[in-house]
Amino acid sequence: MSEPKQKQFRAIRGTRDILPPDSSLWNWFERTAREVFESFNFREIRTPLFEEPELFGRSVGTDTDIVLKEMYPVEGRPPQEIQDYRRFIAAHGARIKNGSFVLKHLVHDVEQVLPELLIAQRIGDISDTDNMRLLQVIGEDAKRLRVHLRDEFLLSSEEILNLAQRIVYAAEDLRLGEQMTLRPEGTASVVRAYIEHGMHNLPGNQKLYYVGPMFRRERPQKGRYRQFYQIGAEVLGPSDAPAIDAEVIEMLLALFHRVGLTRTTLYVNSIGCKDCRPKYVELLREELRKIKDRLGADSQRRIETNPLRVLDSKLPDEQEIIATLPRISDHLCEACRAHFAKLKDELNLRGLAYEENWRLVRGLDYYTRTTFEVTAEGLGSQNAVCGGGRYDGLVELLGGPPTKGIGFAIGTDRAILSIQESGNLPKLPGLDVFVAWMGVKSYPTAGVELPPEEMKFKKSLGLADKLGARYALILGEDEVASGTYTLKRLADAKQEKYSESELFAHLKNGG
Ligand code: HAM
Repeated sequence: MSEPKQKQFRAIRGTRDILPPDSSLWNWFERTAREVFESFNFREIRTPLFEEPELFGRSVGTDTDIVLKEMYPVEGRPPQEIQDYRRFIAAHGARIKNGSFVLKHLVHDVEQVLPELLIAQRIGDISDTDNMRLLQVIGEDAKRLRVHLRDEFLLSSEEILNLAQRIVYAAEDLRLGEQMTLRPEGTASVVRAYIEHGMHNLPGNQKLYYVGPMFRRERPQKGRYRQFYQIGAEVLGPSDAPAIDAEVIEMLLALFHRVGLTRTTLYVNSIGCKDCRPKYVELLREELRKIKDRLGADSQRRIETNPLRVLDSKLPDEQEIIATLPRISDHLCEACRAHFAKLKDELNLRGLAYEENWRLVRGLDYYTRTTFEVTAEGLGSQNAVCGGGRYDGLVELLGGPPTKGIGFAIGTDRAILSIQESGNLPKLPGLDVFVAWMGVKSYPTAGVELPPEEMKFKKSLGLADKLGARYALILGEDEVASGTYTLKRLADAKQEKYSESELFAHLKNGG
């Protein structure tokens, strides 16, 4: 008889494991980012992996792909007693159906349970505005039924059943768990934290960076994952000087230079501010309506919802038409035009090469003025390794004081892929010394990583070779007795004897 087949688990679609030796490359990349960013006086912020969904609705925008289609909702499980309270009321639904319903029992149950639900609502165990409305319905309907029972008997039996049914439905509709979502990006969380902790009271600009996973339910492909990683940086504070934009870009490119990610292109654009952009968007919409028939379905829809996003289109058929559309650079207000011109001066001053791309509008709603992106080679269609821009006004939108902001996020998965494709890999330290020991008396003498079971020297050295160790330290009982050790360099099989102190000195000096 064959064994029953066990289910084999695999990583969820769009997620992946990062194994050694790749994980060393990742650690090196992230370590280098920290070093470079800290040398620019940025410091790390760590925010939670989940947040209230509305945080992203308000900042990234309710009409964006990210918020409409790609967020991963997380529902907190409510405390058991709260679930029981709901069941208490909802159970009357079955009694209404089978005719065993007793009005005074329902009213009694609601009166028992409602105060508990209201407390839960107040302390946030069950939150959100929908629940508030539902609890109100339950409270008001129960009150009318109570009045009817107590003295007036004003309601017809049909009205009673309607009210009772409405209470049951409202109870069933209560969303008892806290509503959360896995974060699709980091900027909104950083801004939330900035406001929550009153960081605007700190002197100067706040320069923050973050490293970690983000989650978007996109269609997986090369360079596009559902759990992916970003290294981001944000500057928040009173000033919107273009020199800040340039410094942020300089820091980004300094990192790319350090890690050998050099076959890249920096694109910059300005998408105006709340004064000039709406006028341009309206103009764009009018022009798009005229040529609507020549556009694909997605772009046609976007004419009404978000015309700027039409400029993002990658459809080959649309490129020629899009090239004829009015460009934002011709419609910036004086202040935005000056800001963009100064940014380009500042980039030139720093010797940073860039290309202007008037179609770079980005897929998130919070941007104003500067937007930028860096593409890298070897990535196919998902070739943006970094995106960023200015978001003056976002802090206010999320309930904070007037504040300017700019930042970027690097897609770590893509940056690493591009480095791997280029073959320009760093030499990362591997295993230094493999201790080839034989004889039980030798085993306790060696205080480092070593094979846990005795092996013949030949086999041991073969393993050391396969593991890519630089040296094998040969440790037999003679060596222990005499206090001298044989160190074999595996690259050229050269070997020499050392005393213990000589040995350490030799290895410490890098062999
Ligand atoms: P974003 O353009 O949505 O901007 O993402 C930034 C980078 O994250 C992209 O350029 C890409 O490299 C990477 N990325 C995005 N989605 C995926 C995915 N599904 N798989 C792999 N990599 C991905 C933001 O997130 C903004 N918060 C950036 C920012 C910070 N703007 C101002 N401050």
